[in-house]
Amino acid sequence: MSDKPAYMQHMPHFVAPAAPITIDHAEGSWIYATDGSKWLDFVMGIAVVNTGHCHPKVVAAVREQSTKVSHAQMNMYRSQPMLDLTEKLMDILPEGLDEVMYANSGAEAVENAVKLAKQATRRPGVIAFQNAFHGRTHLTMALTDSALHYRGHFEPLVGSIYHAKYCYPFRTPASEDPTQYALDDVRRVLGSEIYGDDVAAIIVEPIQGEGGFVIPTAEFMQGLRAIADEIGACLIIDEIQAGMGRTGKWFCFEHYGVKPDIMTIAKGIASGYPLSAIAAPKALWDKCVPGSMGGTYGGNAVSCAAGVATIDAMRDEGMLENAARQGEKLMKFFLEKQKQYPAIGDVRGKGLMFAIECVQPGGKEPNAAAAKAFIAECIKRKVIVMGASRFGNCVRFLPAININDADLDHALGVFDEAAKAAFA
Ligand SMILES: Cc1ncc(COP(=O)(O)O)c(C=O)c1O
Repeated sequence: MSDKPAYMQHMPHFVAPAAPITIDHAEGSWIYATDGSKWLDFVMGIAVVNTGHCHPKVVAAVREQSTKVSHAQMNMYRSQPMLDLTEKLMDILPEGLDEVMYANSGAEAVENAVKLAKQATRRPGVIAFQNAFHGRTHLTMALTDSALHYRGHFEPLVGSIYHAKYCYPFRTPASEDPTQYALDDVRRVLGSEIYGDDVAAIIVEPIQGEGGFVIPTAEFMQGLRAIADEIGACLIIDEIQAGMGRTGKWFCFEHYGVKPDIMTIAKGIASGYPLSAIAAPKALWDKCVPGSMGGTYGGNAVSCAAGVATIDAMRDEGMLENAARQGEKLMKFFLEKQKQYPAIGDVRGKGLMFAIECVQPGGKEPNAAAAKAFIAECIKRKVIVMGASRFGNCVRFLPAININDADLDHALGVFDEAAKAAFA
């Protein structure tokens, strides 16, 4: 017997929940545990349940669909919810990304996006970014660079993947321009590691998620668009964490004035039901060999019904606007805290994709102890937040995008106390 609690005996040691609770049920921003306690959720399944737990419209759609048909394998028959969701996505996707394929998880979406780029271009190479996270499958961990544990001891990794510097304004040397510094590194890769005409895709998160909610400049994203065009590669924008209303727009790339060739969507797309999507122009999909992509569960009927209800609820209830407005409140609050506590080195966010980066006072040395102490103080007060970044020195805040004023104010009260306890 190990020192794990009895109820975890038959699960691996790394299944180690940060909050010491078993969920009985959850509603909106709140979790109700089996021991009778009540918790405010600022993680939402890691940016998955963007519409809040058990949104009534999602619950109703899932209930109804589950009595009709649970699954209709997409190469065998069509399900109405898959057709309906595709139509809904056409309203919110950028013009030109006019065909969508469904899969189950974020990593699977990235796998398919890269496979699509390779088949469409008949090229082998991929440029990804330092500090990126794209998943844990064999291909996606090779694209990932945000922490050693995601890829270490798994060699050999998928080849022909090259990492360039991401635009990280807070950590760019003071003498350098953040946009130029990062774009120069993409040019370095193209000058010394792979010929441009061997590159199938440049894959980029519009805000790095696991890497610490790193927000690039718009000019960096525009620069990548220009480089992709110049070398004839596909620009894949991975919207898995930053998409579906999280940043106050349907998709985060909309903040930057660029458009992807291929886009990956997952997490928030179906309010907790497993579903992901890969969107690209028909001209690219037409280059794919039939049978080379697909899967048993992609486009599951119940998940797609949840996806339709998710988009309707977000639109009908003004959730994107709410995310932008509540994000401003978070920003104002933490900018004030930053003046009080030197451990808060950077405060950054778009809408409700929001983080603070903790540093050793007086410099920029990562301060994981401060971030961990803050998270522990929040959890002690029954508000669940989580960390990010390879150093563990960032705290991310991912509430439901329809969080109301009272719940946000409650959280700010707790963050105030937690900051005092952790940073003072
Ligand atoms: C940007 C990004 N891409 C891909 C993934 C992988 O998604 P999944 O865990 O569903 O495989 C994640 C997960 O956090 C992510 O944030």
